[in-house]
Amino acid sequence: MLISNNLIQAINEQVGREFGAAMQYVNIASYFTAENMLMFGKLFFEQAAEENAHAMKLVRYVLDAGGTIGVPAIPAARADFKSPEDAVGAALQWEEDVTRQINNLMDIAVKEKDYIAQEFLGWFVNEQLEEVSKMSTILSVIQRSNGNLLLAEQYVQSTLADIETVEGGAK
Ligand SMILES: [Fe+2]
Ligand SMILES: [Fe+2]
Repeated sequence: MLISNNLIQAINEQVGREFGAAMQYVNIASYFTAENMLMFGKLFFEQAAEENAHAMKLVRYVLDAGGTIGVPAIPAARADFKSPEDAVGAALQWEEDVTRQINNLMDIAVKEKDYIAQEFLGWFVNEQLEEVSKMSTILSVIQRSNGNLLLAEQYVQSTLADIETVEGGAK
């Protein structure tokens, strides 16, 4: 086995949190879609799919390294958003929490001199930079739109799509 029981346990918990993130983003996407902010809805449904992929990436790693998986109970995601700012603020806070969780996993891998895990987790460390930066950009766009949410929608549609093109659509 190429992974410690400690790290298996910690990654299993992270699998639950990534699925939890997927559910959180489905709720946020649904909130925006119900508010007829369809570009934000689309963006967050895509985000939900990404979180699902993150969970599965962790599952695959544990199995490849010879460990076992038992997805933990996942607390209900928030659905009571009071405003677009509230919804995106929740997403940003979530991503900041996840960044700390990923750093904790990396701490375990470093402490255990598990170089394979460090290499694997490096992808998640970089991913969090992208996720936090994306959510804080969206939050500031909503704040600066000064209540003109159609303008914020237009920004998301044009600018974020352009940025993804520049990045080659890398996820
Ligand atoms: Fe994630
Ligand atoms: Fe994320």
